[in-house]
Amino acid sequence: RYRDPNSVDKMNPFAEQEAWEEHQIGKATLKFGSKNKKQISDDYEYVFEDQIEFIKATVMDGDKFDHDLPSELLDNSQEKSALQKLQDERKTLPIYPYREELLQAVHDHQVLVIVGETGSGKTTQIPQYLHEAGYTKRGKVGCTQPRRVAAMSVAARVSQEMGVKLGHEVGYSIRFEDCTSEKTVLKYMTDGMLLREFLGEPDLASYSVVMVDEAHERTLSTDILFGLVKDIARFRSDLKLLISSATLDAEKFSDYFDKAPIFKIPGRRYPVDIHYTKAPEADYLDAAIVTVLQIHVTQSPGDILVFFTGQEEIEAAEEILKHRTRGLGTKIAELIICPIYANLPTELQAKIFEPTPEGARKVVLATNIAETSLTIDGIKYVIDPGFCKMKSYNPRTGMESLLITPISKASANQRAGRSGRTGPGNCFRLYTAYNYFHDLEENTVPEIQRTNLANVVLTLKSLGIHDLLNFDFMDPPPSEALLKALELLYALNALNNLGELTKAGRRMAEFPLDPMLSKMIVASDKYKCSEEIISIAAMLSVGNSIFYRPKDKQVHADNARMNFHTGNVGDHIALLKVYSSWKETNYSTQWCYENYIQVRSMKRARDIRDQLEGLLERVEIELMSNPNDLEAIKKAITSGFFHHSARLQKNGSYRTVKNPQTVHIHPSSGLAQVLPRWVVYHELVLTTKEYMRQVTELKPEWLVEIAPHYYQLKDVEDPGSKKMPRGQGRSVKD
Ligand code: CDP
Ligand code: MG
Repeated sequence: RYRDPNSVDKMNPFAEQEAWEEHQIGKATLKFGSKNKKQISDDYEYVFEDQIEFIKATVMDGDKFDHDLPSELLDNSQEKSALQKLQDERKTLPIYPYREELLQAVHDHQVLVIVGETGSGKTTQIPQYLHEAGYTKRGKVGCTQPRRVAAMSVAARVSQEMGVKLGHEVGYSIRFEDCTSEKTVLKYMTDGMLLREFLGEPDLASYSVVMVDEAHERTLSTDILFGLVKDIARFRSDLKLLISSATLDAEKFSDYFDKAPIFKIPGRRYPVDIHYTKAPEADYLDAAIVTVLQIHVTQSPGDILVFFTGQEEIEAAEEILKHRTRGLGTKIAELIICPIYANLPTELQAKIFEPTPEGARKVVLATNIAETSLTIDGIKYVIDPGFCKMKSYNPRTGMESLLITPISKASANQRAGRSGRTGPGNCFRLYTAYNYFHDLEENTVPEIQRTNLANVVLTLKSLGIHDLLNFDFMDPPPSEALLKALELLYALNALNNLGELTKAGRRMAEFPLDPMLSKMIVASDKYKCSEEIISIAAMLSVGNSIFYRPKDKQVHADNARMNFHTGNVGDHIALLKVYSSWKETNYSTQWCYENYIQVRSMKRARDIRDQLEGLLERVEIELMSNPNDLEAIKKAITSGFFHHSARLQKNGSYRTVKNPQTVHIHPSSGLAQVLPRWVVYHELVLTTKEYMRQVTELKPEWLVEIAPHYYQLKDVEDPGSKKMPRGQGRSVKD
């Protein structure tokens, strides 16, 4: 059950059709119970109809007032320039008093583990201190972030603090977006991007310092980076390595990095009162909204931070909150609603950092991103439903899924701590104290132990690291998962039977995409349709936000969408048609409006496509166009996605061919009513059922032709018959 986290968040409020909403809201843990179905009333009293009772439990683990707020903060003289103000603000951060000591420690040690409460200034200040101390004269200072939004927003903040233009001295680099230049000396980037930089620069020669930030998040890329930077630090004695973390795992990091010293930045933490619900909440979305309103109407000033699992929930909550606050009248203060999630347009992201106007209250609706990566000042109340979206992977079947999962105790405490940064705080947990103490795991399992490793294995292989079982992992992945990844790469012909990178594999590794997508691109060479395939790959990478479906124009929108499906060409070709038609209109915005297509998504697809085109040249694949040979295009798709094949059953459902399980065509697919006998799909999503999304018809003999090592004739024969299935008319050979 594969669902790319990015594509999940890319969904837009209208992209999922209303007719499909039943699939959306049936989610296991996100039950829209009868409460939400109630007519939303403008009546102020309504807010209290379903009060939630909390019991106050503990003050957080022995926290005390560490510091009082420094008095410099109170200096607000208006003559000061914005820049001067920012400079003053920098001096109020908890890290500031330790500036010299920290620089000394960096000077004295090659590897340093830095621990400090979220918001103490690690991410924004340390790279600047290093710059001020001259480290950037010898090379760049690179700082990795697990999340794209964090990389972008932190870089923006630091460029402001330094009074330079973003992309000049301070820049960021995330997948498909490089906002750096020759001048860039402080480079914020996702951990995945630094990993890719190793491909071009195995010793990171252009860096003088690498800071692996938010190390406690233990993302897959961060874990792999640990192994790689530890290795290069051995032969690059001039390279400084900083590992920074918000939580207590410091000993573990220190042990891993050969007992590197730990530099602790004392935080300012105020006590936080924890409140638990008396009984479990059946519907946490609704409970969160009710709690927001309860706080807003009854509690003293201070902003609210609510943790949701993803964009869909945040958008739902935003809408309901807007409705419910509309009728509150003038006696109640204004409630400013600020969503924040990975795919929120950049210009809207800035809104969460704007100070709350006098007399109003801000409520930030955030994903996990606000747990440690982003610090929002002024939060006094945290609402924690206790869930997050988490990847899980079944190495046996090779299926990956994103599931809404209970958080760990460590996460719960991080979340609570967000309310106690500038004064005593309150955390409302939408679960019981019993749940907290008995049901939550201590720590989140590192991603490397619950994910598909194909991509990472391909990257490591192309870095010349062959013995993966003995790679220096901080926590090794399950060996079945490693084997499964090797198997997949072998099936894709990226590795030979000795486990060595093939020519195809070397080319695939150049693309910052999942191996199946890269394989599709590499295979397009053979089928002479690379132009078409990179358009399809770019459109698939954008996710599910291409089509727009306003509530009042659904019929028009559906008709416009179905135009691209004429001839039941399948979803991949339909995406290609959208892209080509847009290109023919010279990338017209008007055309997008007329066809109910999101301009923003299309522009992103164009950017991605441009980059893929550049990479084609690099791996010496000729740009060739073959728009009318749909069979060639479909075969190229099948070359990457032959694992994802399914066969129609008598009852209208499908059965995947390898690792058989029952799946269905997603209602958004152009083939949902057509039900071809054989299909290849891009991904599985689990809502009420297991759905295949982006589906194209396939001839079963292609499977044997394209992947003879993976499919035998018996796999594609009709059950009970020795003959090849319908449509088979030729002999099969490679
Ligand atoms: O990395 P750490 O959590 O230790 O702190 P930081 O991200 O460097 O944040 C230090 C301060 O900068 C906080 O008070 C944030 O509110 C502020 N900041 C900001 O205003 N805008 C950003 N995009 C990032 C940080
Ligand atoms: Mg940080």
